[in-house]
Parts: sequence; structure tokens; C-alpha cells
Amino acid sequence: MQTDDILDSMLAPSAPEGVVCELCGERFPATWWEPRPEWKARGMTGKWCKPPNPCRDCEAEEHRAALKRAEKRARAVAGVSPRYQGFDLSRAVLQHEREDPEVFVRRMKARRNTIGVLRGNQPIVRLLREWEPAHRSVYLQGAVGRGKTLLLSAFVNRLTAVEEMILVPGTDKTPGPATYTRPARYHALYIDERELMRRTELSWKGDPVPLFQVSRVPVLVLDELGCTVEGSKSKKALSMITDAIERLVDYRYRNELPIVIGSNHDFHDLPDILGHRTASRLSEMVETRKTIVGPDWRGI
Ligand SMILES: Nc1ncnc2c1ncn2[C@@H]1O[C@H](COP(=O)(O)OP(=O)(O)OP(=O)(O)O)[C@@H](O)[C@H]1O
Ligand SMILES: [Mg+2]
Ligand SMILES: [Zn+2]
Repeated sequence: MQTDDILDSMLAPSAPEGVVCELCGERFPATWWEPRPEWKARGMTGKWCKPPNPCRDCEAEEHRAALKRAEKRARAVAGVSPRYQGFDLSRAVLQHEREDPEVFVRRMKARRNTIGVLRGNQPIVRLLREWEPAHRSVYLQGAVGRGKTLLLSAFVNRLTAVEEMILVPGTDKTPGPATYTRPARYHALYIDERELMRRTELSWKGDPVPLFQVSRVPVLVLDELGCTVEGSKSKKALSMITDAIERLVDYRYRNELPIVIGSNHDFHDLPDILGHRTASRLSEMVETRKTIVGPDWRGI
């Protein structure tokens, strides 16, 4: 040790007590901050710095938890049901080459929030993973329980992902740290036809959430297309449904807004189910049609 250093350490104030993190209870010692030699030459002296409270690990953990909460909120606002809010398209698991589909489905169902991809469904997952608003409408067909709602929800989860949060440290005037979530990249909405009809009926009764608002979202995911048509009891009810869907589709057609559709029905049956005016517009809007293969996931 040089004489200067010895002198410095003798002059330095003794170490203050460490800080106990209010969250994990661990004690962290104060650290000695040493100025650079050129600053020292100008008379600057070192000082003891108190560690932050909560500690850095706890702060990062809180940050991650806040991100998760923000993501959950964003997904609920976008209409995704709690059952499907945890699924992530980027973490899908592909079926082994020679694995029996039923064995694979059972294996996947045993894992929480994991999307299993049967070999034939790879292009669908890729499409939903890579889809951008510049791409056009999509028609996803599949029989009952094939996983349409799951995939469409995971797609909305992707579009509403809160990608990062900006951590803003507190200042003298504002307490910190404050976190801000970066807004979702595009506004997406998941709605199924039943809910759509419920909202439409409400809007006829004067509810201020009219069909018009659903028509305008940048990315609309419309599940169960054609499902309420079959169950409609009267001719009047049927014409109300087909009329509402026609207005929705026509609005998006005229404004060049995409719809990502899920349905039990074959695309070719749409004219009979929804009428020619709607089916005609959809056939021009839809760029990609896909059919989900595999067994009924609920039945295994
Ligand atoms: N690829 C998958 N990976 C993991 N779980 C899946 C997958 N597909 C479906 N499931 C599970 O199977 C069940 C049925 O899926 P989902 O509700 O998406 O079916 P659907 O095609 O929308 O059926 P419906 O036509 O009756 O609406 C859900 O519990 C879902 O989590
Ligand atoms: Mg469904
Ligand atoms: Zn801690």
C-alpha cells in the first residue's frame, strides 16, 4: 500500500451499517465508491454508498411480476378468456416424428399452458406466429375441439404482448422506481359470434358498445363464425344475425381491415349459411384458408 492510500483509508469515514432488503430480508453491506485518479487529483474523495432497498434481485423480480400482470390485463381487455390467456405461440411443442397423435395429445394436455402442434398443423402455427396486419384475412376451419379457440387466443396473446417495460428510477420529486408498460403493438380483439350477437342486441337496446366498435378494431379475431345461425329459432332471428354479420364484414371489407376467422364450417358452405353478400366479400378478403387436423382434444 502506498502512503497516500493508507492516509485515505485512515481519513475515510467508517462503513455505515448495511441495508436489510424489505422484501427478502437479506442484509447487503454498504459499498465504497472510489473516484477516478484524475478526479481524485482534483480533490474528490470516495464515499460509502448504501445498497438499494428493495435489493436489485427483488426489484427485478417485482418488475417481472408487474410485466406479467400487465400482460394478463391486456389479454383480458382484448377479449381472451382466462382459460387461454397463458398460451404462447412462440413456445409451441412439435409432435415427434413417429409419435401416435393420441399419445401426443395426452402428453401435451398434461402440461400446463403448452400448445401441442400435430405435424399437419405446423403451417397454421407458423402463419399465426408470423402474421402481420399487412397480411390479409385468414380462415381457420376445424371440427369441434380441434383447438381453434386456443390457437386464435394465443394469436391475440401474441399481438397484445407487453414486450418490455421501461423502468424509471425515482427522483427527489417523484418516488420510484416507476414502471411503464409499452402499449400493445396492434389493437386486437377476440370475439366469438355468440358474444357478437349479444353485443349487437344490446346495441339495439341502446347500449353504448355498438357493433360499430367491434367493426373498427385494427385486428379482429372472429371465432365460431356461423354457429348462431344454426341455433336461431325464427326466420326473424336468423335475418337479424346474418344482417349483423353482413354489416360487420362489409365495414371491414370497405375499410380494408383484416379478420382472422375461426369456424366449424367449410368455407364453401358460407353462402348457404351467411348469404351470398357476406360470403362473396369474405372470399375476396381471405388470403389463407387452413383446416386444423387431428383428434378432438377434449375427447382424449
Ligand atoms: N394444440 C393444442 N395444445 C394443447 N391443448 C390444446 C390444443 N388444442 C386444443 N387444446 C385443448 O383442448 C380443448 C379444446 O380446444 P378449443 O377450445 O380451442 O377447441 P375448438 O376447436 O375451439 O372447439 P369448438 O369448435 O368446440 O369451439 C381446450 O381445453 C384446449 O386447451
Ligand atoms: Mg372454440
Ligand atoms: Zn431482496
